[in-house]
Amino acid sequence: MIGTDLTIAANLLKHSKLVAIPTETVYGLAANALDEKAVGHIFEIKNRPHFDPLIIHLDTFAKVKNYVTHIPDEFKLLANHFSPGPITFLLPKKSNIPFLITSGSDFVAIRIPSHPMAQALLEQLDFPLAAPSANPFGYISPTNAQHVYKMFGEKIPYILDGGECSVGLESTIIGIENGKATIFRKGGLRIEEIEVHIGSVVVKENSSSKPNAPGMLESHYAPKKPIIIGHIPALLEEYKNKKIGVLSFQKRYSSHSHYILSPSANYTEASANFFNFLHQLDEEKIEIIISEFLPEVGLGRAINDRLRRASFKR
Ligand code: TXA
Ligand code: MG
Repeated sequence: MIGTDLTIAANLLKHSKLVAIPTETVYGLAANALDEKAVGHIFEIKNRPHFDPLIIHLDTFAKVKNYVTHIPDEFKLLANHFSPGPITFLLPKKSNIPFLITSGSDFVAIRIPSHPMAQALLEQLDFPLAAPSANPFGYISPTNAQHVYKMFGEKIPYILDGGECSVGLESTIIGIENGKATIFRKGGLRIEEIEVHIGSVVVKENSSSKPNAPGMLESHYAPKKPIIIGHIPALLEEYKNKKIGVLSFQKRYSSHSHYILSPSANYTEASANFFNFLHQLDEEKIEIIISEFLPEVGLGRAINDRLRRASFKR
C-alpha cells in the first residue's frame, strides 16, 4: 500500500516490519537497524547478498555518537555543512550495531537524510533505520513511490509517499583509508564541494570485481534492457535495425523514443531525472537503450559511474 501516514509507518517499523521511505536521494527500504529479524527481511526481499552492508539513518548528527566510537574532526566539519543531506560517513561502530548491518565490518555507514518526511518519521522513533535503496539487488534505484510499488507491489507492507526525490542519486560515501579521507561511492554530494572544506580526497574508482564496498559492484543500477554508451549518432547508425530508446544529456539526436536529462545542461536537473528516465525507458517498447557519458565534472561524475555500471556486460 502507498500512503502518507507517518503513524502507520512508525507503528509497522516498531513491530519489525519493513516500510519504504522517501529520502532526498532515492527511496529506501527501511527497518529497525537494531532488530536483526527486521534487517534480515531487507536482505530477503531485495535478494541482496549478505556481503553488501546497509546504511543506517538518523534524524540528527548529534545522535551519531551513540553508535560509533570516534568521529574524525574533518567529518564533523563536513557534517556541519552537509548533514542533513546526501552524504554518508563510514565510522567505527559501537557494539550496539549488529554485524548483520555492516557485513561483519567494524565500520558502520551513517547518513542523516534531509527529506522532511524521513526527518519526521525518524523523530518519532527511538532507533535508527537501516535502509538500502528500495529496489531488487542490482536493478535501477527508485526515485518515487510508484517505482517502489512497480518493483515490489504488496511485498512491502507500506510505502510512504514523499513525492519525487530532489537529488535522485544515492548519497556520496566517505570514509578514512590509510589515514586519508576517501570517497567510496560518488553520489549526490559533489566531491568538489567536499574538497572545499577538507582539501583533496582520494576517490575510489570502483573497478574491482571483488569489492570491499559493494556500491562498487561493476554490474549495478542496471535496467533489464541492454544499455550501450558511446557517441549517440554513431550508435544510432550501428543499431539502426533495432528499436532504440535514447537517453542523452542535453541534445536531441533522433525521433526515436528519446529522453533528455537536462536540455539546459544542468547537472542537478540531470541527476533528478536520471533513474526516473531509466525506469521509463525500461517500460518502453524498445530493444536497447543508447546513451552517452556526461562531462566528467560535478554530479556528472556520479551519473557516469552509474551509467558505466548499468551498461557493464553481464
Ligand atoms: O542515498 C543513499 O545512500 C540511499 C538512501 C536510501 O539513503 N541508500 C543507499 O543504500 O544507497 P544502498 O544499500 O543501495 O547502498 C549502500 C552502499 C553499499 O552497497 C556499500 O557500498 C556502502 O553503502 N556501505 C554501507 N555500509 C558500509 C560499510 N560498513 N562499509 C563499507 N561500505 C558500506
Ligand atoms: Mg542500492
